Amino acid sequence: MAFHIIMKFIFLLALLNLPVALPFNLDYEDVIIPYLVYLKSNYLPCAGALIHPLWVVTAAHCNLPKLKVILGVKNPMDPNGNTQQVVDYEKMIHHPYFLITSIEHDIMLIKLKRAIQLNNYVKPVSLPHQPAPAKSMCTVSTWAYNRCNISQDPDSLQNVNITVISKSQCRNAYKTYNIRESMLCVGIVPGRRMPCKEVTAAPAVCNGTLQGILSFADGCVLRADVGIYTRIFNYLTWIENTIRHY
Ligand SMILES: *[C@@H]1O[C@H](CO)[C@@H](O)[C@H](O)[C@H]1NC(C)=O
Ligand SMILES: *[C@@H]1O[C@H](CO)[C@@H](O)[C@H](O)[C@H]1NC(C)=O
Ligand SMILES: *[C@@H]1O[C@H](CO)[C@@H](O)[C@H](O)[C@H]1NC(C)=O
Repeated sequence: MAFHIIMKFIFLLALLNLPVALPFNLDYEDVIIPYLVYLKSNYLPCAGALIHPLWVVTAAHCNLPKLKVILGVKNPMDPNGNTQQVVDYEKMIHHPYFLITSIEHDIMLIKLKRAIQLNNYVKPVSLPHQPAPAKSMCTVSTWAYNRCNISQDPDSLQNVNITVISKSQCRNAYKTYNIRESMLCVGIVPGRRMPCKEVTAAPAVCNGTLQGILSFADGCVLRADVGIYTRIFNYLTWIENTIRHY
């Protein structure tokens, strides 16, 4: 809803021949993001990232009763999208130090029941070999609700290119949060700049590697509000050991 109002506003500025400058690039094209996973449940959905034909990483705060893992999704409201693969899960493994009262260690691995078929619409993202320094450009993607009824699935896949900010900038943006080394902040400005509703646990992919999974944001990451992400680089050993062990 809000997006359409902005687009009308931009269109109006364009008509008036005034300069149109957005502080970030909103990629509104309906393109499938091959590593992006839709985690559908009886409660709220979550996003996730495919990191292996059998494994998805998401946030531990995601409560996913009756989980269905859906890959190759553009519009979750359209169950007949011919690129979609739906698969059951075998296990959900929370990080052992995650507590529901904290945003620390907010990471979870989901093992699929069968290896997913890889193609142009379904493809894992690489894990990072090095952390993303401040000012790195990242693509954050998830689904948004254009409709007001959030008891339905969201219907709009969106992504935005935003940069990693420093820990001190992030501490300024989130004064009441304890921003730790195991967290990554990405975005431009804090705060709810306009009403919006999006699916949580959005992945941040920087220079082709998965660097973050959204843990918390005051506002909407698709509108470039600063979000606090779990810093994947700090959890590589846990991820690799879990995949090897289970
Ligand atoms: C965002 O970055 C990705 C990866 O570098 C690029 O392919 C895409 O075109 C960019 N999108 C926008 C809207 O700038
Ligand atoms: C919202 O969607 C649900 C599920 O499709 C439906 O049962 C309900 O009537 C809708 N509510 C409104 C206000 O449209
Ligand atoms: C991006 O990744 C490539 C390897 O894929 C690496 O050589 C390059 O240094 C990276 N660039 C940045 C800015 O991190």
